[in-house]
Amino acid sequence: MERFRPSSLVATRRALLIGAMTLPFLGQSLRGSTLTKTADEADMLFGCAVRADQLFADRDFRALVTSECGEITPELELKWAFVEPDAGKYNFSSADVLAAFASENGKALHGHTLLWHDSIPPWAAAQLAQQSDWTIISRFIAETVTRYRDKISTWDVVNEPILIGQRDDGLRASPFLEAFGSGYVAHALKEVRKLAPKAKLFINEFGLLYDLPQDRLKREALLQLLETLKKWGVPLSGIGIQGHLELQHQSNFNQQVFADFLNRLGGLGLEIRISELDVKENRTELPADIRDQRAGEAVKALLDVAVENKAVGTITSWGLSDRYSWLPGAGETAGYNRGLPFNTDLKIKPIYAAIQQALAKRARQKP
Ligand code: G3I
Repeated sequence: MERFRPSSLVATRRALLIGAMTLPFLGQSLRGSTLTKTADEADMLFGCAVRADQLFADRDFRALVTSECGEITPELELKWAFVEPDAGKYNFSSADVLAAFASENGKALHGHTLLWHDSIPPWAAAQLAQQSDWTIISRFIAETVTRYRDKISTWDVVNEPILIGQRDDGLRASPFLEAFGSGYVAHALKEVRKLAPKAKLFINEFGLLYDLPQDRLKREALLQLLETLKKWGVPLSGIGIQGHLELQHQSNFNQQVFADFLNRLGGLGLEIRISELDVKENRTELPADIRDQRAGEAVKALLDVAVENKAVGTITSWGLSDRYSWLPGAGETAGYNRGLPFNTDLKIKPIYAAIQQALAKRARQKP
């Protein structure tokens, strides 16, 4: 594997950019810091999702990830459909590359994700539809978790298990649930705990941010699931709250409602990750600087609340630069691509400043 060390050229350029840019609405200079450095000062972790192909094809981008992030999350490379496209034939080459990058550069590696209804290889989906045979899943879990036992200390064990409107308990009628019943979540967590006794195990969910009927129901359904798991003594360490902000709903972001939700999660003894942070825009006709400002303000509103809660330990951006973002390909948001901390030229935007400011606020609160 090619080994990378940040070039002084890139570092100098970044320092100049940051030094030159003071974001008036945030009222503070960002001189001399990176997100991971400020996160360190706050005893938190900042990271982003990356893809191995992008990381290694683009030296400047890699330098940016190296300097800004204390953790990386494989965007695709650990998902079941990616790892085991054919039954029993595992492909860990891309995940291995990311694991090597993480360990060579002192980054944490977050395991995303083991059970996700949206990443079941077609052969496995066909088998699960025919037979309730947990070994179809447990082989993949065992191969993957064991391989990265010393490299991955946090896992999204179950991704997106809630979907309102399908069942009274709010659980998603996924192929896992259809095959094994609602106990599959607890079963998976227990299984991963045995394979990786020291890892922190998470459930990761989206659609929890806004003061909207659907999000309200989803928060309640998730809390009900988490309370049940805790009551049963299931080894669950925390919850990932996907931070996919949507500007069309931003007027429905209620800081008190979100703070109350975080308090209830923290009250269950759960660690909280603000995972998958990005911003879906809704007004591409506006000038770029206004679009960027609006996105920054949405992130600021979210993170200002998040960092007030001590259970929040990690903030993960779903990508670092608009140069590589899933947003433009994402259905109704196609073409809306100013949702990450750095623009396509790898220059900072108000989202970056909002994250910096939130982390700095938390650092100042330390005793
Ligand atoms: O690489 C293939 C390419 O060879 C092929 O021609 C093309 C045809 O569709 O597909 C390409 O793969 C795509 C891959 O991204 C790489 O671009 C997949 O179809 C596409 O499904 C995949 O999308 C990813 C998606 O998860 C599904 O794995 C997104 O990049 C990724 O950002 C997204 O991330 C999810 C989180 O894991 C869970 N939460 C929601 C989040 C956003 O959807």
